[in-house]
Amino acid sequence: MKKILITGGAGFIGSHVVRLFVNSYPQYKIYNLDKLTYAGNLRNLEDIQGAANYEFIKADIADRDQITGLFKTHGFDSVIHLAAESHVDRSISNPLEFLRTNIVGTVNLLNACIETWADHFDGHLFYHVSTDEVYGSLHDDGFFLESTSYDPQSPYSASKAGSDHFVRAYGNTYGLPYVLTNCSNNYGPNQFPEKLIPLFINNIRNRKKLPVYGRGENIRDWLYVVDHARAIDLVFHKSQPGKTYNIGGFNEWKNLDLIRVLCDVMDEKLGNTPGASRELIEFVTDRKGHDFRYAIDANLIKEELGWEPSLQFEEGLSKTVDWYLQNQDWLSEVTSGGYLKYYETHYGSH
Ligand code: NAD
Ligand code: DAU
Repeated sequence: MKKILITGGAGFIGSHVVRLFVNSYPQYKIYNLDKLTYAGNLRNLEDIQGAANYEFIKADIADRDQITGLFKTHGFDSVIHLAAESHVDRSISNPLEFLRTNIVGTVNLLNACIETWADHFDGHLFYHVSTDEVYGSLHDDGFFLESTSYDPQSPYSASKAGSDHFVRAYGNTYGLPYVLTNCSNNYGPNQFPEKLIPLFINNIRNRKKLPVYGRGENIRDWLYVVDHARAIDLVFHKSQPGKTYNIGGFNEWKNLDLIRVLCDVMDEKLGNTPGASRELIEFVTDRKGHDFRYAIDANLIKEELGWEPSLQFEEGLSKTVDWYLQNQDWLSEVTSGGYLKYYETHYGSH
């Protein structure tokens, strides 16, 4: 039985990847390694926790001894690495935590792989899941290509860029077989409500203000999370080692336009007077160093591996809103306690 280690599997994207692999590949044993930070939630995986080919391991990727010991015990065959500190605003207030997890944690995993697999790299793979933010910020025109130079602008993207460089350096120096993907903004079920879409769904539900940074003119390229998980499955199984693919939704939205559509979808589903949620929009101080635009050219993965998004944005957004409204206990649980404290420090008490 092939042993696949998935890191960060209790988080948003990781939980969708773990579910897809556990359900699609009974011939693999899937190990989900996660520290369970504020962003990790095992409730995301309740439906598969009893599966015969699934095991959860609580561990910190930044703890070298713990990681070395786990590789010795389990002898993982391949790694799909998603564990990270992932929120840009948190990286602005606490950059060191991002360096620790995203860079030191990744290097610990890389070291464990080359020690465990020694020089017998055949049949092994280190899959590094990264972000389009490593490429920096676009103006009105152009797209990020796989060949675009790195130009990270936030502590988060600098730490992800650093981890990407280490992965490629281990490929070049030690011959480690790796693949790397850089994806655009994901949305969908199970996303922690500090990120734009779930935060605003939760605030609309509670009739709280919608804090739009700056004038809401920044642009992001949105992809439904299950489509990202499908892309990871495809790249893991079909890519040549040493390749990089960009993954994106072909779906750019100016923040304010997206927020207005979200308000209207919520009004319709909640039976509100049309326009009621738009009244909650409030322009607040901009994020420091706020990247203006991200836009992915995902034609390489489309042409070489046949991947493309399966959902139109309107359908994905509607499914996402339905999920949050049907899982209000999930939302209430994650928005209580520590999360509220963080929220107040960041946004004040409105
Ligand atoms: P998330 O914050 O929802 O989940 C991160 C997970 O990693 C959590 O379960 C957390 O407990 C775990 N984790 C954090 N620190 C850890 C540590 N030291 N040891 C072990 N586990 C730890 O993040 P996400 O949005 O699901 O992102 C997953 C990956 O995908 C990240 O690498 C991120 O950079 C990348 N990515 C995210 C997006 C997006 O839009 N969310 C887009 C492109 C790429
Ligand atoms: O592009 C991929 C990246 O997308 C991932 O690598 C990150 O892990 C993920 O968090 C996401 O980063 P963003 O910074 O783009 O996502 P966020 O949801 O934080 O913000 C989306 C946009 O909305 C951004 O322009 C900032 C704005 N925003 C966000 C919040 C939380 C607001 O206007 N108000 C808010 O309260």
